[in-house]
This record gives sequence, structure tokens and C-alpha cells, in this order.
Amino acid sequence: MLELRKISYTYPQTSKPILKNLSFKVEDKHAGIIGPNGCGKTTMLHLMVGLIKPTEGDLLFHGEPVTTKLDLYNLRRDVGFLFQSSDDQLFSPTVIEDVAFGPLNLGFKPDEARAIAENTLKNLGLNGFEDRITHKLSGGEKKLVALATILAMRPKVLLLDEPTNNLDPKTTSRLIEILRNLDLYQIIISHDWDFLSHTTNTLYKIEHGHIHKCEEDHIHEHRHIHKAGDHPHQHDL
Ligand SMILES: Nc1ncnc2c1ncn2[C@@H]1O[C@H](COP(=O)(O)OP(=O)(O)O)[C@@H](O)[C@H]1O
Ligand SMILES: [Mg+2]
Repeated sequence: MLELRKISYTYPQTSKPILKNLSFKVEDKHAGIIGPNGCGKTTMLHLMVGLIKPTEGDLLFHGEPVTTKLDLYNLRRDVGFLFQSSDDQLFSPTVIEDVAFGPLNLGFKPDEARAIAENTLKNLGLNGFEDRITHKLSGGEKKLVALATILAMRPKVLLLDEPTNNLDPKTTSRLIEILRNLDLYQIIISHDWDFLSHTTNTLYKIEHGHIHKCEEDHIHEHRHIHKAGDHPHQHDL
């Protein structure tokens, strides 16, 4: 349904392309994208929702190049993008206004939009959050509300940019549970292997401007035990 075909991308202020002749199709229901910092993961998702235009190559939606404003509108109606920073996604004073914004924009009447928003919040375990002040929420709460603003538009594809950054383990578990229960295409950028092991079954890697499917790398959960291991921590290996 959504495809980047032979795209290259160079940021206007720079000379070197970040992505080179890259092709990618949304075909796996739950795909993860990995790659070192600065390799172009976020750039790739921005290209996929038309936030930036490829220097070369095409963005295709249902097999047709996305060129007009109407094409872009149709694409954005079906493809939701969870930004790395929730503050880039949330802009209304209260949670209910933020979550109802999308449905209102799609043409639902105010009472219908409110009902959709309330229902979406309920499905995410966020009932009671309707009148909370958005900018006063915790980072984890903001992430879930940002997800609610997208899900209220009932997308068919969900792109997530490092969704577990700065989330505590409890909120990460809730997010895993939510994503596993959502029946839509999910493309997830993450460095969090345990999270990917729970939410995806195909892995892609971006390297030197290209993307390839990792056929030999198998995502798996890693459990271990050692002294002072009762706090969240990271290992280098
Ligand atoms: N607006 C921009 N202008 C110029 N360079 C940028 C811009 N945004 C990102 N870059 C550069 O493009 C490269 C890829 O960035 P990004 O897609 O954010 O990488 P990733 O998400 O994989 O960490 C980085 O070197 C970054 O510094
Ligand atoms: Mg990034």
C-alpha cells in the first residue's frame, strides 16, 4: 500500500545524500527498523508520510505516485506517524481536544468526534484523562495520548519513531500490549531489542544509505540475572 521506490534524499543545507537509491514496501504487518544514530531512519519515515520530498525517486500510495495535495491528504488519512517527541504531536490545551482534533478534521460532527476520542482513550486505558492539561502530563502519558490522537483517525498503517525513548518499564509494557492488540501495519524504529522482540517479526537495517532485510538476525527476548539487577539498566554487549 505504501512504498518508497528508488529514493535518494539530501537535506537542502548539505551536500551528501543520507539515503541512496532506497526502496522499501510496507508488506510485513509488524516490521522493525534498526540502524546507528544518524543513518537516516527518521528521514525515511518523514519521506513515507510526505513531510519531506525525495530528491530522487517516488513515494507511492496504492501503487500511484504521491504528487498532488489530495494524494497527500489521502495518504495521511491512512498512515499515522508517532513522532519521537510527543511535544511535536500534542498542541491542544486538553487531552480530549487533542484526540478529537483528527476526527473533527476528517469531517465528524463535534459530538461524534468527542465520542470517538473518548472511546479511543478508553481503549488505551486512559479514561479519566479527557480534561487533563496536555502539557502537564508525564512523558509516558504524553506518549500514550499522542498515540490516541493517531488511533482516533483509524489509520491502516502506523509508523513509530523510537517510541520507547524515555519511557519507564511499566509504560513500555503497556505500549507493547497496546501495539500487539492493534490490527494494522506497524513499522517501528527502535534501538530497544526487547521491545522489538515483542512487537515485530521482521527486521530491516539501514546502513550507508541503503536498507536491507535482516534474514539472519533473529529478534529474541533476552533474560538474565546478576547482582543489582533489580533496576532498569543497559549492557554494552
Ligand atoms: N533538517 C536537517 N537538515 C540537515 N541535516 C539533517 C536534518 N535532519 C537530519 N539531518 C541529518 O541527517 C542524518 C540522518 O538523520 P536522521 O534521519 O534523523 O537519523 P536517525 O533517525 O537514523 O538517527 C543525520 O546526519 C542528521 O544530522
Ligand atoms: Mg531518528
